[in-house]
Amino acid sequence: MDSFVIEGGRRLAGRLRVNGSKNAALPIMAAALMTDQPVTLKDVPDLADIRNMMKLLAELGCHRTNEAGPKHVMALHSTDRSNSHARYDIVRTMRAGVCVLGPLLARRGYCRVSMPGGCAIGDRPIDLHLRGVKALGAEVTMDGGDITVKAPPGGLVGTTIFLGGPFGSTVLGTANVMCAATVAKGTTVIESAACEPEIVDLASLLTKMGAKITGAGSPRITIEGVAQLGGCEHTIMPDRIEAGTFMMAAAITNGDLVLDNCPTDALLSTIDRLDAIGVSVEPIEILRPEGFVADPLRQAVRVTCGRVIRPVEVTTQPHPGFPTDLQAQLMALLTLADGNSVITERIFPERFLHVAELARMGAKIFRQGPTVIVSGVRQLTGAPVMASDLRASACLVLAGMAAEGTTIVNRVYHLDRGYEKMEERLCGVGAKITRVSEKEE
Ligand code: EPU
Repeated sequence: MDSFVIEGGRRLAGRLRVNGSKNAALPIMAAALMTDQPVTLKDVPDLADIRNMMKLLAELGCHRTNEAGPKHVMALHSTDRSNSHARYDIVRTMRAGVCVLGPLLARRGYCRVSMPGGCAIGDRPIDLHLRGVKALGAEVTMDGGDITVKAPPGGLVGTTIFLGGPFGSTVLGTANVMCAATVAKGTTVIESAACEPEIVDLASLLTKMGAKITGAGSPRITIEGVAQLGGCEHTIMPDRIEAGTFMMAAAITNGDLVLDNCPTDALLSTIDRLDAIGVSVEPIEILRPEGFVADPLRQAVRVTCGRVIRPVEVTTQPHPGFPTDLQAQLMALLTLADGNSVITERIFPERFLHVAELARMGAKIFRQGPTVIVSGVRQLTGAPVMASDLRASACLVLAGMAAEGTTIVNRVYHLDRGYEKMEERLCGVGAKITRVSEKEE
């Protein structure tokens, strides 16, 4: 298991490109199961979760046909429909494996998916996914930890589905139901659908494959069923969580970073909170060829920070509210604010694995239930730390870059699930981070 050794106190300056989005790529890859035609995806990040999803797809008869091709281009072809069982071994390591459920049900009328267990950030049920497919007429049964979902003999039938739950909408639940509904007979309306940009990206892929979808990005998505889907080519949207993490990395090191391929339009609540803290995120003009059409999801922005980090209040919410996936990184930044900040976690109320680790670095944090009060300190000090969650680990890397002395972040395989070569990219803009493998340790 690798660790990062971070020498703190270095200011980040330079230019970074934001990679394609992990959370957009995962359900999009699963959607390749919905057609016998090739689906080519560009800007797919090279991450542990993506490799696990590829392994799962291969077991389900969908193969990558360009293994030797460019790393970030993935040509997928679903050729064998004989196995529709997403096994526990894979879903256990990658919860997002559950997003093959909707595509398999749509194309094969049947699937068996291991029930994903809880994970470090909370219980993570899938009752809403199942409620959605049941409303389309599917029969759902549980056996031996697996869920079996079967379409009725005449196929799925469109209907109106309310998909909201106690914590609001569900992202992968919306993805599953939207995929299943693309080939259901008639019209499906998903009410209280997730509005996340990754859902818009999935809808855009499905539309290229021949689906008829309107309203993606709003709480009401309407899907007119079609007979079948075909192949297409699609470029994955940039990763808004990676972009937000880099923004906070610039801020916490009092740095000056330019981010290329930045999905600014998907980060407005984050940019609003950063602005309140005293961090500026400004689009920059770059020379473009004549006829270039500006894309608010692929901008170049400059991130700079004033000397004083102002305290703020922030509550995580479904999109377009402040994302839970940036809560930990924001907390790292607020540990150095000039006063008390209040962070409330409304999506995963237990997602605070980073709190105790930040405290080991000298942060002053008081937690009560889903709310945390962060009393800013003048300086963090390096320490050995560990967190068993991807974003909590990112938070500790940021804290380590700002801290005095050396921080060792253990078990960075969590980070490798969601950030491609994070240490190399941060070192390229001035950080000092060394990856140490267990043997060397
Ligand atoms: N929920 C239910 N029932 C369900 C589904 C969800 O009660 O059937 C609850 C959850 O327990 C949670 C809330 O609804 O309280 C939202 O969960 P959601 O289903 O939206 O989460 P998800 O789709 O499983 C995706 C991302 C997560 C991100 C969440 C919230 C992927 C692969 N994962 O998970 O990303 O935190 O949406 O935005 O897209 C990460 O990248 O670090 C990560 C955890």
